[in-house]
Amino acid sequence: MSETHAPVRVCAAAELVDGGAGQRLNATYAGGDAVVFFVRYAGEAYGYLNRCAHVPMELDWVEGQFFESSGLYLMCATHGAIYQPETGKCVGGPCRGGRLRPVRVEERDTPEGRAVFWLPDDDLRPKSP
Ligand code: FES
Repeated sequence: MSETHAPVRVCAAAELVDGGAGQRLNATYAGGDAVVFFVRYAGEAYGYLNRCAHVPMELDWVEGQFFESSGLYLMCATHGAIYQPETGKCVGGPCRGGRLRPVRVEERDTPEGRAVFWLPDDDLRPKSP
């Protein structure tokens, strides 16, 4: 993946709670509008294109809510596909074996404290203002 795009600050590291609400950011994917989201699972931050592998719809049932009730899987609200948070692999539902499109995520210390950053690539980038 290219390193030519500037890292985008997503949120303070503490705002991304294990198995809790995700953070959404507007994006451009292959020239069209899209959303990326970031969650924390087992201590690590992960990010994906917010687009189900079944039908290209956003996953969250309420904006920013991606985990199902156990907090172990990401779930698509439309037909209930479940995904491993750490791999994006669909492990149940109509697109079993499919995958969410990952984005690169890094946590860094900044003068304002530790924060989560998205490292965009050529196809999936922040939406220009
Ligand atoms: S659109 Fe996600 S499971 Fe069908």
